[in-house]
Amino acid sequence: MKKLSVIIVITLVCSTFFLSQCTDNKTGETNNQKDTVLVGSKSNGGYETQVKWGQHLVMSMDCGNCHTPKKMGKMGPEDDSTLLLSGHPAKQPPPDVDRNAMESKGLVVTNDLTSWVGPWGISYTANLTSDESGIGTWNEDQFIFCIRNGKQKGLAGSRMLLPPMPWPAFKNLNDDELKAIFAYLKSTKPISNIVPPPAPPVVQHKM
Ligand code: HEC
Repeated sequence: MKKLSVIIVITLVCSTFFLSQCTDNKTGETNNQKDTVLVGSKSNGGYETQVKWGQHLVMSMDCGNCHTPKKMGKMGPEDDSTLLLSGHPAKQPPPDVDRNAMESKGLVVTNDLTSWVGPWGISYTANLTSDESGIGTWNEDQFIFCIRNGKQKGLAGSRMLLPPMPWPAFKNLNDDELKAIFAYLKSTKPISNIVPPPAPPVVQHKM
């Protein structure tokens, strides 16, 4: 009789253990399912569409601060929303500054932040709209290559991008983030604006 009750107790303990394993497994599955859902929504960064995620990234990383021409507002220059991301306006003359002094002493930027004078000469911010004078003819691979390697137009044989384009920081974005940014840029209103090429420095710098 004593033997029988020991067996019953052992059976009970074992079944409780196996049942709890079962429940754990179930919870495990539920967690995995949750993870899957999260990973799924993560592919658009939690946004409805890839384009909206890209827009969020572009706004948060302030691409427009340099790539959007400004108009004068009450508090100073502010983004001109009609020219969103269209780069340095082609018709705007080069900065009227003492290039010798600026290139050797530091940096100067026009008040719309689209032209920059420094030891590299003058750089003009690019047109990032979907127009063919912007990134309209680019493909996704080109864009990723451009940001990862700092190569103009994302072509292996082209020149390096000049400061202050922060590609050395942006190259840390992952492929999905870069693809989302590109999808958003491709969705922007096309604005035709052929940005002038950069001007080489007037001061020779010893390397
Ligand atoms: C601090 C100013 C600044 C910020 C912020 C900035 N850029 Fe730029 N960007 C520039 C300048 C200046 C150039 C032109 C460099 C050159 O001509 O070599 C440029 C060039 C580029 C180019 C190369 C275009 C071409 O024709 O090869 C791309 C693409 C680009 N920027 C995308 C972006 C994106 C996307 C963001 C935001 C995530 C951004 N930039 C933020 C200043 C900036």
